[in-house]
This record gives sequence, structure tokens and C-alpha cells, in this order.
Amino acid sequence: MLTERLRPNIRTLKPYSPGAGGGIKLDANENPFPWPEGLAAEIAAGLEPNRYPDGGAIALREALAARFGLRREEIIAGNGLDELIALVLQTFGGPGRALLIQPPTFGVYAISAAVTETPLLEAPLAAEGQALDLDKMLALCRENPVAVIIVCNPNNPTGALFPREEIERLLRESGALVVADEAYGEFAGAEASMLPFIHKYQNLLIMKTFSKAFGMAGLRLGYICGPAAAVAMLNRARQTFNVNSFTQKAGLAVLRRAAAYEEQVALLRAETERLYLGLKALPGLKVWPTRANFVLFRPGDAAGWSEALRARGFAVRLLEGLPGLGSCLRVSAGTPEETGAFLRAAASIAQTDKGCVDSGRGPE
Ligand SMILES: Cc1ncc(COP(=O)(O)O)c(C=O)c1O
Repeated sequence: MLTERLRPNIRTLKPYSPGAGGGIKLDANENPFPWPEGLAAEIAAGLEPNRYPDGGAIALREALAARFGLRREEIIAGNGLDELIALVLQTFGGPGRALLIQPPTFGVYAISAAVTETPLLEAPLAAEGQALDLDKMLALCRENPVAVIIVCNPNNPTGALFPREEIERLLRESGALVVADEAYGEFAGAEASMLPFIHKYQNLLIMKTFSKAFGMAGLRLGYICGPAAAVAMLNRARQTFNVNSFTQKAGLAVLRRAAAYEEQVALLRAETERLYLGLKALPGLKVWPTRANFVLFRPGDAAGWSEALRARGFAVRLLEGLPGLGSCLRVSAGTPEETGAFLRAAASIAQTDKGCVDSGRGPE
């Protein structure tokens, strides 16, 4: 009875199932460094929880605008990027207005498309998840009413960074709104960002988050930079009080300490390189190069490895049946101690994993 009431577009979706928890957490690409002592208390002091938050997040957007040389009208804040991905499709997608993505990529795009009844088109990544298939993407745009393209750059979960010239080609030739999801942009470096093009294209949106480089995953703060006209359209559909008061103040506090976070980013980049080289040195693994703060790798038996790592106290992300790549694991850079301990555990599993050495071929 209840099932019949469920909207058809929701039927195929599965609820999010959180990991088992515990152990060293290398499964969500978070910043592993704890917050500075006393910062949370400092932010909480003077809060007025009985009042609604600033529905325009004015001070926060002004601070972001100053950081990037933009106007606050060119920025919209959200309850994490997850909310803003949905908002983009609520505003510009819907029936008859397709979303184009490039699997394997971030799963929330497809979920938001289903929820908003936005048709989903896919142009799978080429070169084992390392390159956009631009010809295929542009062909799909010619043949279908594509309203929005989301390019995850660097891409989660492959770690690939796509050249800005290719995104510019999409901006010029696709006829669609092009969204660059730069959730991991800080790790790839400013020279990889589409931000300098913000005034050149009217159809470019750039998504960023405080969840990764800025250590605020638990507080939920993301934002989009784009033309003021597009931001105004997004604001029509936005929930009025989408970013709570604590989070708005936390964002400001973190931006005031940006230099300390930039040091952490440099350290995490070094830890990611260490993870990549350490995994590459082990037998039987296919390891992908990365420009984010995580590494994707494929052992012979990904589910077995995930269990073996869990038994040794590590949570990593098991990604079964990735299109074109097969079943893989994604591991985030941790603190230097965590990365070292993870690599030792991986080496001991690789030694006992003789029966299931990766064949080098992913199932198609
Ligand atoms: C590519 C990508 N975009 C967006 C998000 C969502 O970020 P937020 O924590 O701001 O909702 C994530 C989180 O993992 C991500 O990997």
C-alpha cells in the first residue's frame, strides 16, 4: 500500500547507509586535523539560538567575495554542497531538462536528478576514469535537451583533474549551464580552478565546500560562485534559513584562519602523494593518480580488502562495480601517523592476498 504511494522517481533510490563507524576514518575525504582548541566555544559565545539565522548569510558571503575578488551577489551559500546540487536541479532541471554527468563520479548528482525528475544522461569517462569524453558529451548535448552539465573537478572517486580548456569548450559549445564541482579544488591548486573565468561566461557555476580542505564537514557549509543573474535565480528556490547561525559564524572564523588551513592542505597533498606511491609499490594493485586528497585503487578482491582493513581498524570506501573500472577502494589522506599506519596495514594485506591478485582488467 505504502509502496504504491511512493513517487515513481524515488522507487529506485536506496537510503544512505552510514558506515559501521569506529577506527581510523579514511572513508569520506575529510580533513583529519581536529579543530583548534577553544574555537567552537568562541563561536558559540554570543550566538542567539532563539533567533533565526541571517537568511542572506551576508557577512559570510561578503568574506567569501573578498577572498575571491567577487561581489556578494555572485555567491550563494548552502547547507553543504549536497543541498546546492539539489538546488541547481530544482532551479534549472526538472522534466524535459536533462543533467549530463560522467561516471564514475559523485553519487549525489544522480540522486538529485531522480528526486527532481531531471532526466539523467551519462558520458562515461575515458582513459580508465582519467579523461572526459568531450566528443560524446557534445554529441549528447546536440541530440538531447541538456540543461545542466556537472563536471566534478577533481573527480570523486577517480581523482582525475580535467583541463580547464575542456570545460571552456563545454561552456562555449554545449548550450547548457556548466557546473564545475570543485569540492576538492583546494588540493588541486588555484591554477586548476574555473574561478578566473567567472566573468567570461554567463553559463558557468562553480561549487565549493568547507567540508574538505577547511575541516568543516560536520557543520555543513557549501557555496556556489557564478553570475549574479544565475545566483538570483537559485535564490528564488532556496530555503530561507538554509545555513544555521553557528555554521555561518564558523565559516567566518575558518576564513580568518585561512593561512593555517592552507598549511594543512599542503601537508595533506604530501600525504596523498605518499599514499599513492606506497600503494603503487604493493603487488597486485591498480592505483590511480590523483589531484584530490584521496587515492582510488583496485585490488583483486575489493570487498575482501575492505573487510581486512576494517579488521585492522581502518574505514575506507568500498565502491563496487564502478562503470568501466570494476570494484575499487577509495582511501583518504589522513594525518602522517594515520597514513603510515594505513600503508603498513595495506602491505600486510597485500602479502596475504596472493589468491586474488588484480588481473589489470576492469569489468566493462
Ligand atoms: C565531489 C563532491 N561534491 C560535493 C560533495 C558534498 O560536499 P558537502 O559536504 O559540502 O555537502 C562531496 C562530498 O563528498 C563531493 O565529493
